[in-house]
Amino acid sequence: MPEPLIEKYRERLSLEPGDPVVTMNEGSTPLIEAPVISERVGASVYLKLEGVNPTGSFKDRGMTVAVSRAKGAGAEAIICASTGNTAASCAAYAARAGLRGVVIVPEGRIAIGKLAQALIHGARVIALRGNFDQALEIVRELADRHPVELVNSVNPYRIEGQKTAAFEVCDELGPPDALAIPVGNAGNITAWWRGFQEYEVAPVLYGFQAEGAAPLVLGRPVAEPETIASAIRIGNPARWEEAMDAVTASRGRIAAVSDEQILDAYHLLASREGVFCEPASAASVAGILAHGLPAPEDREPPRSVVCVLTGHGLKDPDTALTKAPSVIGCEADTEAVEREVFKDD
Ligand code: F0G
Repeated sequence: MPEPLIEKYRERLSLEPGDPVVTMNEGSTPLIEAPVISERVGASVYLKLEGVNPTGSFKDRGMTVAVSRAKGAGAEAIICASTGNTAASCAAYAARAGLRGVVIVPEGRIAIGKLAQALIHGARVIALRGNFDQALEIVRELADRHPVELVNSVNPYRIEGQKTAAFEVCDELGPPDALAIPVGNAGNITAWWRGFQEYEVAPVLYGFQAEGAAPLVLGRPVAEPETIASAIRIGNPARWEEAMDAVTASRGRIAAVSDEQILDAYHLLASREGVFCEPASAASVAGILAHGLPAPEDREPPRSVVCVLTGHGLKDPDTALTKAPSVIGCEADTEAVEREVFKDD
């Protein structure tokens, strides 16, 4: 049985000795080779499958630590704003810890699988007539006014937990030359960089935002962010400065990818690498395909790159169905089925 990340990396996490461990054995996710993408970019590309975590995204790494601490501190309720994955993770860990879970999501703008998760785990789900940035502002205020623990990535324990993904890659592969990662609220890129720093390594960071939701690329907040990648539809990232500091320190860059580039990478991953991730996750692969692997002047171009695939494709079946070929209807008759099976495309 895989060891929960809190046990595996306990001395590197800042939990209190008496904190209970609220876990579903998150972490220890697969790191796999991507031969087709490697060939296209001219380097060894590895995919870190964070969709294999208990609720299907990397959020569980942070949530196990944040909820363990909240429970240790005597909290009775946890709350978050979310584009979907944090909501699903918050709801699941609240259920497991015996806490009340409350999630605020932008109305009609989160993938259906994530909504189903938040509801079935018993969280109170509030659909805001507004966007993620407004939802985050509101939950920050509520957490100030009421004894409820905020579990967005502004919570330091979320970052602590998420940095373990960098430890795992270094432990398994050794430090890669570069890391490609989608960026929304900018917590995860901050966490990976912290993990690398604690291991005293410094891969080049490539952070990718969707073109219609690219505040870090534009250098100013985006009032009405828009992209097919709903998970990263964020116009004013909470960890803006830390993310930019990390990218600068690593001598990497933040760049934008179009929805078309994201969907092409999403489809390529599914159809050629056998990996089904959600659209936001595919931004990491779309980014290196579109922008290559730029290196600082005094460094060789990266030979090994890890792309973080942040969430599972099953989260968002609607997008998959719009991108995939149609099903073929057929009568229950062997000859009819035979014709369809062996028909040339
Ligand atoms: N990929 C996925 C699948 C996500 O759900 C998120 C963020 C990101 C990438 C970006 O990570 O915000 O740390 O830069 N999702 C949050 C949520 C905002 O509410 O689920 P980030």
